[in-house]
Amino acid sequence: MKATIAILPGDGIGPEVTAEAVKVLNAIAAKFGHQFDMPEGLIGGVALDAENDPFPASTASVCEDAAAVLLGAVGGPKWDNVPTESRPERGLLRLRAVLNVFANIRPVAVNNVLAGASPIRAEILEGVDMIVVRELTGGIYFGKKERTKNSATDVCTYTRSEIERVLRIAGQMAQKRRGKVTSVDKSNVLETSRLWREVVNELMPREFPDVQVEHLLVDAAAMHLLSRPADFDVIVTENMFGDILTDEASMLAGSMGMLPSASLNDGTVGLYEPIHGSAPDIAGQNKANPCATIMSAAMLLRHSLNLTAEADAIEAAVNQALLNGARTGDIAQAGDTVIGTQEMGDAVLKALG
Ligand code: IPM
Ligand code: MG
Repeated sequence: MKATIAILPGDGIGPEVTAEAVKVLNAIAAKFGHQFDMPEGLIGGVALDAENDPFPASTASVCEDAAAVLLGAVGGPKWDNVPTESRPERGLLRLRAVLNVFANIRPVAVNNVLAGASPIRAEILEGVDMIVVRELTGGIYFGKKERTKNSATDVCTYTRSEIERVLRIAGQMAQKRRGKVTSVDKSNVLETSRLWREVVNELMPREFPDVQVEHLLVDAAAMHLLSRPADFDVIVTENMFGDILTDEASMLAGSMGMLPSASLNDGTVGLYEPIHGSAPDIAGQNKANPCATIMSAAMLLRHSLNLTAEADAIEAAVNQALLNGARTGDIAQAGDTVIGTQEMGDAVLKALG
């Protein structure tokens, strides 16, 4: 197959981790006889510096011509004081909006090899295998913002159809898994959450009668994620709650450096990125864990290009590299030899064969 994959390395450790994913994609292309064209685009702080825009038109056009987009990370202290509209993060939000990728899929599974890397006790981690479906193009991230010296406003709005479409993705995923959806809201306080819960209670029994539905308030969900993480199958929630809960959930897997994500719309075009940020403290030092980005590339092959065997091969290779003892600093335990970003990429390549 011939396919164009847009690569947006971004800021901080973004370029280092995407470079390893590109290495792996090239190896997959050679092994399975595909041709991946991988043009790069600027996004985030580097785009702001170069083009005075965190999501320049040149990048939008690279993405529009592509079957899928693979992104590293955006942001960093260098741009802390730029106005809201120019912030590196704004570039990412605009990209998500342009692609209309309203469903952000964040799988959280505990790899037994890494159970010791999590701060949570091993017996609690047993059987943890969930997918968080985070609404990605609505809510407080995209509402009107206002600021005076002494007051600030962020508006949170959800429409029925925004909630329905993301619930359908969650319902379909649950049907292929263990048949359970946990909807997370704050309906005891927020109006948007009351609408959210109402739509869940209407749509789920009607369209997914075979799926068991559970409601949790977000504060309780934060606790249950640590006390009974193995009970969750599919969690569906709004934009900001999903952002917060997935950072928390990543610690079940041992490290943020292990969690990939796929952001999907109704079609096949998707945006794929690790859930971690730009980690400016370790940027440029060959220390970052590229596994989340490499596994995001696997999700890209599976969801956007329908290349199942290729995606499976990448996931198996990451697993094998870990089994062989490959450890970046974030997942290393006492006594482990710590390797760098590039060496972790090489370990995955070696396991690919
Ligand atoms: C994420 C990140 C982003 C978000 C930031 C960088 C805007 O935290 O993808 O989880 O909040 O969505
Ligand atoms: Mg986040």
